[in-house]
Amino acid sequence: QKSEQDENFRPNFHFTPEKNWMNDPNGMFYLDGTYHLYFQYYPEDNVWGPMHWGHATSKDMITWEEQDIALYPDEKGYIFSGSAVVDHNNTSGFGKDGKTPVVAIFTYHEPEGEKKGEEDYQSQAIAYSLDKGQTWTKYEGNPVLPNPGMKDFRDPKVTWDDINKQWLMALATTEKTLFYSSQDLKNWKKLSEFGEGNGAHDGVWECPDFFPMQVEGSDETKWVLIQSLNPGGYNGGSGTQYFIGDFDGTTFTPEKNMQNLEEKHNYWIDFGRDNYAGVTWANIPEDDGRKLFIGWMSNWLYAQEVPTSTWRSAMTVARELKLIKENNEYLITSQPAKELQKYRGESLQKENIKVDKKTVLLDSSEVNLAKAEIHFSFSGLSDGEIEFVLSNSEGEKMRILYDHAASKFKMDRTEAGQVNFSDKFSGKNAVAPRITKSNSMNGVMILDKTSVELFLDNGKTVITEIFFPNQPWNEFSVKSESGFVVDSLEAFELNF
Ligand code: FRU
Repeated sequence: QKSEQDENFRPNFHFTPEKNWMNDPNGMFYLDGTYHLYFQYYPEDNVWGPMHWGHATSKDMITWEEQDIALYPDEKGYIFSGSAVVDHNNTSGFGKDGKTPVVAIFTYHEPEGEKKGEEDYQSQAIAYSLDKGQTWTKYEGNPVLPNPGMKDFRDPKVTWDDINKQWLMALATTEKTLFYSSQDLKNWKKLSEFGEGNGAHDGVWECPDFFPMQVEGSDETKWVLIQSLNPGGYNGGSGTQYFIGDFDGTTFTPEKNMQNLEEKHNYWIDFGRDNYAGVTWANIPEDDGRKLFIGWMSNWLYAQEVPTSTWRSAMTVARELKLIKENNEYLITSQPAKELQKYRGESLQKENIKVDKKTVLLDSSEVNLAKAEIHFSFSGLSDGEIEFVLSNSEGEKMRILYDHAASKFKMDRTEAGQVNFSDKFSGKNAVAPRITKSNSMNGVMILDKTSVELFLDNGKTVITEIFFPNQPWNEFSVKSESGFVVDSLEAFELNF
């Protein structure tokens, strides 16, 4: 049975399973006009349990249709996170009658082994589909990569490495990324490891992704390693950091300035608390060439306690990642996937608003703030704090603070509706560094019923946070004592 509250909190357009528990996105690939998204799923309860791979499909990565469960746990264990690739050349030999195999690579997690305190309870296994990802057959030779005696040995992300002509697997173990290669997706050879003494380590490394990317506006190629960890994220709990460097087919070497990153470095896919375990889509056609990403819009700090019960957790909006080089430094930027633009209603534009006291930028009679895309550009920023507020008729508010002198954002959800389900949810504010230093700023804000996604300064600082207001936000306002100018504001209500 559906509770009214649960449906009030169910996003208008972010993916949620119809029922029960979801965590990480898994096995995303594109084939013949369809984007596939699998996900860590427990179909029998609204908290984490024996993991399955749920499945959803989409024509545009924005509107999703949930499909039958793709992979069920079995005597070898639960089905943990992993990836999938379209094996166009049938390197795996699973293809039959001219049918192209899709191969999923996942972790078997053996709960009994873990309980007994054994070290080797996680291993990598494969399954294949001959009907474009609808139904799957597990390979009888599993596991394809047995555990060498490592606690935490999971989340294989496989990509075809066209530069070195090999299948490449990035795998996470306690505090490292391991790289393996294969020609047939069945036999895997260890190449190298990465991570010791580099980056944030205050938790277990999980869900890596590793791929080459072209630097925007040049023909230079660099390799990007995305590496989630939990806890130890930028704001504690779950978070996703990245490294950029070179790969010679065996070893990953980060850029000089990324070689001994401190725990509290600035290379994070998202600085908000609610974007975890995100990875990129496989098999995006070359003539598209985008790097498309989706993450789990929650945090292990409180994911199992958020105030919905029939379903739990949503995914972020699909995003396009770009690699840029600025002031001799490589950075990853994110923007909402352009497919979201198809859902735009009429454009509402405002210009040249001088802010020196509380100013209402938008109210819900103009755009529904539970399904909105808002673009803005500001100038004349000066030292002092700016406070953006999403508020409702019950006086609840989500505050987004920007401190220009400190070049920092703060996300305050202490009064954003239901917060008492976990002191970890609202106990303190999330902070985010502003990567760009300038007296002007641009950004995009994507709003759904229970989330805000901020893409600031062309996607260099990204902040994703969830909230649970008891009434929809009906006003978006701003206050600043030092004053600044909203040069332009363009809002679209999204058609969902
Ligand atoms: C990350 C994670 C993965 C694991 C999965 C289990 O959120 O812990 O490392 O494969 O979730 O559901």
